[in-house]
Amino acid sequence: MKVYDYVIIGTGIAGLNAARLIPKDKRVLILCKMSTWNCNTFWAQGGIASAVDENDIPLHIKDTLEAGVNYNDIEAVELLSKKSISTIKNLIDSGMKFDLNEEGKLAYTKEAAHSRNRILHADGDATGRMMHIFLLENCIHEIVTQAVVCDLLIKDDICYGVQYFTSETEQKVAYAHNTIIASGGVGSIYRYHTNSTANAGEVQGIIAEKKLPLKDMEMMQFHPTVVRGTSFARKPLLSEALRGEGAYIVDENGYRFLFDYHKDGELAPRDVVSRSIFDYNKKTSLGVYLSFSTFEKNAFRKRFPNIYANLKELGYDLPFERVPISPAFHYSMGGVETTLDAKVKGMKNLYAIGEVACTGVHGANRLASNSLLEGLVFSQIAVEKSLEENFKIDFKEYDKPIIDYIRNKEIDKDLKDSLREIMWTYASIVRELKTLEESLKTIEEYLKKDVGRLLYLRLLTAKSILTAALNRKKSLGAHYIKED
Ligand code: SIN
Repeated sequence: MKVYDYVIIGTGIAGLNAARLIPKDKRVLILCKMSTWNCNTFWAQGGIASAVDENDIPLHIKDTLEAGVNYNDIEAVELLSKKSISTIKNLIDSGMKFDLNEEGKLAYTKEAAHSRNRILHADGDATGRMMHIFLLENCIHEIVTQAVVCDLLIKDDICYGVQYFTSETEQKVAYAHNTIIASGGVGSIYRYHTNSTANAGEVQGIIAEKKLPLKDMEMMQFHPTVVRGTSFARKPLLSEALRGEGAYIVDENGYRFLFDYHKDGELAPRDVVSRSIFDYNKKTSLGVYLSFSTFEKNAFRKRFPNIYANLKELGYDLPFERVPISPAFHYSMGGVETTLDAKVKGMKNLYAIGEVACTGVHGANRLASNSLLEGLVFSQIAVEKSLEENFKIDFKEYDKPIIDYIRNKEIDKDLKDSLREIMWTYASIVRELKTLEESLKTIEEYLKKDVGRLLYLRLLTAKSILTAALNRKKSLGAHYIKED
């Protein structure tokens, strides 16, 4: 029986950076749910945050804690910020090219809730895509696409590997000494989001099924500025870097209402801006827009070439025209609870990194552009720890039955649509205990139905979000409970 040294689930920044750091002589299998570019990293626009120098570390930590409403794990935040400089340096030394300023030095920009410029970017506003391409180009290990993980082979505190679909009906098992989960967030269980369609939270569902810890599942972040009015579930993002560099939010009469909600206006933390837009629109029924009038055309095109081109395709002439916006689901701060070693809590050889993990770095609201950084830093930690421990499984000790799962069933389509609608309406920017309770009951009813494996796992994830939201009776950061 072939036993891999590593199975990595996911080909976003965390999974690919882990792969980059695993030595050549190790046997590595990387499982990618759809095609390689189908991940949130590919769509990340604004950039990657990093402490600019040693002096900036305390300030980066402070900003991260303030945005996270001090609900963050302080040790994890310190680790993130302290490792940021060497992590970025290692990437640049390996060939990654970030944008430079006129003096040929790294160009740092600003995003909301950062007290200084510390966001690196690449190809203007295609940072995630450029990092993703770089990591893919440098990947020396085997990637299998269209490999949809449907189970983890867990017995006691050891993970023996994974089970995955290779087609609608075929399933395979891969045994591994180390399993690294880097499967991303849950965006596709929301009706409107900014995520890749591959991110539907199935692995979080497996973790819930195995009674392994999920943490802060109620902490869901909504990005304030996506383009309103397009027909797809995945909404085009208007990067926070636009506001960091001068774009501003107005109502249809041109009024900058955000200053009525927070002293920093559109540069307030993301949860505050999303909630304020939601509230203002509800109270006034006025449309909300992002205005670019502070930009000069050529400078705008040069700095934000992809947003310029995408919006042109949608019929907007930037920076002259304002664009209708609304918040949409963007990022899950919660996820699989990990230790500072990036291990799934309670497990010997199972790691979780990137958006799927809850390291505690983001607290109740993630500071903009800390997510790509988290993916890099904690993937490195996971690889270092696993190499140091050199844990070995004996696959013969895994004596549980391998279940022959049915991937999808006839009944799934309508329930999936209903799930997305429920999450978008009731587990959203503003929540109410009564409707959260009703939603949980509905999801529990769906879980009793004879659904396919993938929907079953998504429902378990939704259940964990709703349960966590109900357990937190008071508002905190991105989790906002409307009081009667
Ligand atoms: C953006 O460009 O606004 C997204 C950045 C992030 O989610 O950190």
